[in-house]
Amino acid sequence: MMKKYAVIGYPLSHSSSPQIHNSAFSHLNLDARYEKLEIAPNVFSERIAQLKANREWGGFNITIPFKQQIIPFLDDLDRTARAVGAVNTVQITGQGKWIGHNTDVAGFVKPLQQSGFSPETCLLIGAGGAARAILYALLTFFSAEKIVICNRTVSKAHKLQQDFSAVTQSAIEVVDLNKISAYKKGFDLIVNSTSVGMGALKDWQPVELKGLVKENTLVYDLIYNPAQTRLLKQAAELGARILNGWPMLIFQAAESFRIWTGTNFPEPILNRLLQQRAS
Ligand code: ATR
Repeated sequence: MMKKYAVIGYPLSHSSSPQIHNSAFSHLNLDARYEKLEIAPNVFSERIAQLKANREWGGFNITIPFKQQIIPFLDDLDRTARAVGAVNTVQITGQGKWIGHNTDVAGFVKPLQQSGFSPETCLLIGAGGAARAILYALLTFFSAEKIVICNRTVSKAHKLQQDFSAVTQSAIEVVDLNKISAYKKGFDLIVNSTSVGMGALKDWQPVELKGLVKENTLVYDLIYNPAQTRLLKQAAELGARILNGWPMLIFQAAESFRIWTGTNFPEPILNRLLQQRAS
């Protein structure tokens, strides 16, 4: 029987996930299809109940704004999803159980590992759902000495600091967005996890980078559309290395694919996709 997969979110018009997964399914001749399921927030519970009753589904990706809202509907969470508190991948087992995973963590880490980058000091801009996955990734995969979080709403940065401080040796500090430019020592890694730089906010950048960039700094913007945000443009002008969110999108998709199908994402498709939108 053909298995169906989908990304669930709202709105979804710009999602690249169907293209990524359908290319892999057809390369491997798998009887599977991936589609977009836009669900309005006010009918989320009803629609999830309907999807649970239909055994054609093999799994889902979950995106904004449902990465936390999906959790009460799941039968179990893997270790990473539990620690992060957000789910971007649902695996449906042969017995019809819904298991939550978070492949954003692996997706974020992979491009850093590939370049052999191991940051000691990090600036994390933002304190939303994506920031939680990034902070977990930084603490788990790299033994950073210090991580500074800055966010428009400072209370949310403090909450993130509180949630993770107990489980790490790294120092986590919170600095006001408008005071960060006074932080003159610079960072090895600067990550933007906010939506500042895309869509209606494409002409803005979340922080002024002057003074924050030093030799060998990598500025990593999770945004992939546009391929080069204002933040990345300034980073390049200041001589920093830059990375956009496209490789992370591809690697999180590849990891979801492996969870659903038990098969590695095909390497030629992976490489072709990675080359499509390098920064
Ligand atoms: P995601 O799951 O993508 O992280 P989110 O949880 O809604 O989405 O978080 C969005 C992040 O972008 C937050 O850090 C948010 O800052 P606030 O916590 O202050 O809301 C940040 N963000 C969104 N729009 C912003 C703007 N115009 N200026 C600064 N930060 C903004």
